[in-house]
Amino acid sequence: MSYQHNMQPGPRPYLEQRNLDLSALEWKHFQVKRLSPCLGAELIGIDLRKPLDGDTLSEVRNALLKYRVIFFRDQDLSAEQHLAFASAFGELEEHPFIPSDAPESEVIRFDKDEKVPGYENVWHSDVSWREVPSFGSVLRAHIVPEIGGDTLFADMIAAYECLSDEIKASIDGRMAVNDFTQSFGRLLGPEDLARQQAQYPAVEHPLVRTHTETGEKSLYANAAFTSHIVGMSQEESELLLAQIFRESTVPEYQCRFKWEKNSIAFWDNRAVQHYAANDYWPQRRQMDRVTIIGERPV
Ligand code: SIN
Repeated sequence: MSYQHNMQPGPRPYLEQRNLDLSALEWKHFQVKRLSPCLGAELIGIDLRKPLDGDTLSEVRNALLKYRVIFFRDQDLSAEQHLAFASAFGELEEHPFIPSDAPESEVIRFDKDEKVPGYENVWHSDVSWREVPSFGSVLRAHIVPEIGGDTLFADMIAAYECLSDEIKASIDGRMAVNDFTQSFGRLLGPEDLARQQAQYPAVEHPLVRTHTETGEKSLYANAAFTSHIVGMSQEESELLLAQIFRESTVPEYQCRFKWEKNSIAFWDNRAVQHYAANDYWPQRRQMDRVTIIGERPV
């Protein structure tokens, strides 16, 4: 069966219902400004410098599950406060390939300028090459270009839900291989590469994963780290993956965030992919990310 690019002209029932559901949400501890009908909301009225009380924290977590990516403005956090906020949602991970400029090794820094262009401009879900990939990422802007450097997010639950039943049946239950070598691996010499491959061998994850908290299904294959589909010829796998990767590029599944200094984005890697637009060179863009460990995808 051939897999056609899925977004057709005309209304998509899932998107219409999702917009209605998100419009009906009410929150006690913050106001929201949504970024698109499908996903993303700015949470207004919360100060992340202080620890959040239990009620507020569970409402923030619930907002993340509903909007799939949430944003905060004007959060002048120290590295400790950044870590404290993220660690309220789970155990933090250390990244073996992205350096930390902070004394805290769980804070990784993306520092781009005239000499170091951005390379995060490929749709991905963070660390899908790990056996246990991350649940969430909390990214904070320190230095932003005058114009450009937005981050785009794509809702992979919507992408899955808008597939035809026939296509869903053909991909449900399939496994795909995720591997760091085609991305970070390119930056390593042969010895380092072999050492890291021994520590982080290629892993199989379901092509369609089920969200452990909401039970929703999402497309879990990304252009940065997913190399092939298990049990298919290379040609078949390349064709199917190319088509699946295109789903993240559908504007109806996306929102786009314009950074300001001290903005924060918190996304759920189980539900969305992201893409950092690399259009600001040679201006500087400096961001810090703290990443929360998740669970093995099922
Ligand atoms: C990332 O890929 O986690 C970084 C995203 C960004 O810099 O906007």
